[in-house]
Amino acid sequence: GNERTYRIAVIPGDGIGREVVPEGLRVLEAAARKFGFRLHLDEFDFASCDYYLKHNKMLPEDWKERIGSHDAIFFGAVGWPEKVPDHISLWGSLIQFRREFDQYANLRPVRLMPGIPCPLAGRAPGDIDFFVVRENTEGEYSSIGGSIFPGTHREVVIQETIMTRIGIDRILKFAFELAQKRPRKHLTSATKSNGISITMPYWDTRVEEMAKSFPDVTWDKYHIDILAAHFVLNPDRFNVVVASNLFGDILSDLGPACTGTIGIAPSGNINPERLFPSLFEPVHGSAPDIAGRGIANPVAQIWSGAMMLDHLGETEAGAAIVRAIEQVLPHKQLRTPDMGGTANTVTAGKAIADALT
Ligand code: NAI
Ligand code: MG
Repeated sequence: GNERTYRIAVIPGDGIGREVVPEGLRVLEAAARKFGFRLHLDEFDFASCDYYLKHNKMLPEDWKERIGSHDAIFFGAVGWPEKVPDHISLWGSLIQFRREFDQYANLRPVRLMPGIPCPLAGRAPGDIDFFVVRENTEGEYSSIGGSIFPGTHREVVIQETIMTRIGIDRILKFAFELAQKRPRKHLTSATKSNGISITMPYWDTRVEEMAKSFPDVTWDKYHIDILAAHFVLNPDRFNVVVASNLFGDILSDLGPACTGTIGIAPSGNINPERLFPSLFEPVHGSAPDIAGRGIANPVAQIWSGAMMLDHLGETEAGAAIVRAIEQVLPHKQLRTPDMGGTANTVTAGKAIADALT
């Protein structure tokens, strides 16, 4: 028939990546059946430490051709420090995908789920529900700089922040559009224009300018220091938070930390123009300490699948997966041990797939 079909590059990677990716796929397949679309899955063994040990590189020469025309990449986790140093495994794979596919928007939902004890006192599901949007390609993480007179008392070290109009405008546009799609239609910008007196006032100017194109979106800005405090004290204030690379890096860990376990936090590395595939992955890594025992929490991987469907335009299916997760999490026997439950990876994954159908 002429069902909608999506071509997905599946890359399980290392450690628990190989255990949680199959559960992510189980739930994606269930969603496809229920909502009437097809998934064409191509699985790849590269971007893993075993691949490196065999080929002495993390990726084949033609990796761009092999995954560049897929609709999305569904990624597990990479890294096994006992076999391959992390800077080689991570830089040789994931960082290449993010850069070469210009995945300049890093998107992380921050949502307090039922059944997860909240580290912030007195918060219930519904109180915390926002997105952190991080600029992923420039800003404070530039490679422009250097040092002179190393090792002497005259040693000088400089690293420049790079803010470009194109780079700022495109991340702001992405964030404003996301805010526009959400019921509260509100955006918060992270700044520090009182201390970083050149680039951050420029960032603020671009926010003001972009806001004019989104008259239905309300917005505010906070300096990064007090913003971090508000994440903890008043997380209910936020809807979409947009930030530069460094500020976004910190906020995108602090946000999910305010909602409990690392085992459920998903993320998207997005190329909004869709010139390249976007990559969806759990926030956590390969967890060598528990790998092979079948007890890894599959929720972050499954939720990443929901974000992927949303990106592909299967919004209803994506939302249904998130609801299925919410239905399952309150049940202790359906939760993995990291959430105080007794389920294993497979039973937890099956429970969510069942809740969906
Ligand atoms: P990690 O996230 O793999 O593990 C941190 C702790 O959280 C461990 O105690 C682990 O058992 C636990 N944990 C993580 N995910 C879990 C899950 N789904 N269910 C239950 N418990 C879970 O971070 P770590 O140990 O710092 O790094 C291990 C390897 O993963 C390294 O090689 C690192 O470079 C890599 N890594 C890869 C990432 C990626 O592929 N995006 C992200 C973070 C780390
Ligand atoms: Mg980080």
